[in-house]
Amino acid sequence: GDAAPGPLPAHGPGPGPGAMLPLLLLLLRMAPSDAHVGYMPELTQRPLAARVTTSTFVLEQPRCIFTNTSSDLMIWLVVALDEATGQFDPRTQPETPPLAFQTFPNNTAYATLGTSVANYPCPAPTSRDITVLRVGSETACRLNASRPSCNGPLPGPGPYRVKFVAWKSSQLEAETEWSEPITLLRAHMVPVTPSGRSAGMIVLTSILSILFAVLLACLVALLVTCSSVFSTKADAVSVRRYNTHHVYDQPAARL
Ligand SMILES: *[C@@H]1O[C@H](CO)[C@@H](O)[C@H](O)[C@H]1NC(C)=O
Ligand SMILES: *[C@@H]1O[C@H](CO)[C@@H](O)[C@H](O)[C@H]1NC(C)=O
Ligand SMILES: *[C@@H]1O[C@H](CO)[C@@H](O)[C@H](O)[C@H]1NC(C)=O
Repeated sequence: GDAAPGPLPAHGPGPGPGAMLPLLLLLLRMAPSDAHVGYMPELTQRPLAARVTTSTFVLEQPRCIFTNTSSDLMIWLVVALDEATGQFDPRTQPETPPLAFQTFPNNTAYATLGTSVANYPCPAPTSRDITVLRVGSETACRLNASRPSCNGPLPGPGPYRVKFVAWKSSQLEAETEWSEPITLLRAHMVPVTPSGRSAGMIVLTSILSILFAVLLACLVALLVTCSSVFSTKADAVSVRRYNTHHVYDQPAARL
């Protein structure tokens, strides 16, 4: 139903706060019951590099999932600790402290990637669009308290569960099921240096550079040896030829 509690008159004649409270509670209880959409968000199956990293994961976009395509319907992604999904209250509005990224995981869940449902249309049958979402890809807003919906890097390996929630002017319209638990890579499995390159990569690069230098040195040595051999041979040949020429010249001259 549409029995949403409207804004209360702040001052003026009419029933006092004491009289309004029961009515308010009644209205809250009549708030639309959340429509569960039978969809479970899932990690993308596309052959993408880094489907799961130490601080991000890639989901399929919820295309064709929400049937109400009215453009004021906002779809948010809620990320929660696996063990705390029961504590998520879908009546909590996104972009408010209980769902802020900056206090996660202390607040057990946060809402991010809010966008109009119009951005998740049904894909055309022949479409080759990349329809995925990388969760955890924004680093600039990580500590900025005025960006509670920051899509910041996940603080640990989890596991996490996610669900898409449709809010219309901050009121719950529909929600999907929770995903399966998503566990990220552990930091010690991929040690990352401040430059963002893994230590393994750096070791590999060093070994390759050394091998390349050795190869280059061998090549130079080979070239030097070859050129000295060739120049010696060339001398020998020219000397022999000279001699040969000289030897056969004599009888020819005699004829
Ligand atoms: C779709 O949403 C709009 C506003 O968001 C609402 O007025 C309308 O009743 C909804 N339609 C359905 C079929 O739920
Ligand atoms: C979570 O709470 C603990 C203990 O209260 C605190 O030390 C920590 O800084 C908090 N973390 C965040 C991200 O708020
Ligand atoms: C924090 O976010 C707000 C709102 O997006 C922005 O105006 C402000 O510049 C940001 N502050 C920092 C330090 O990035």
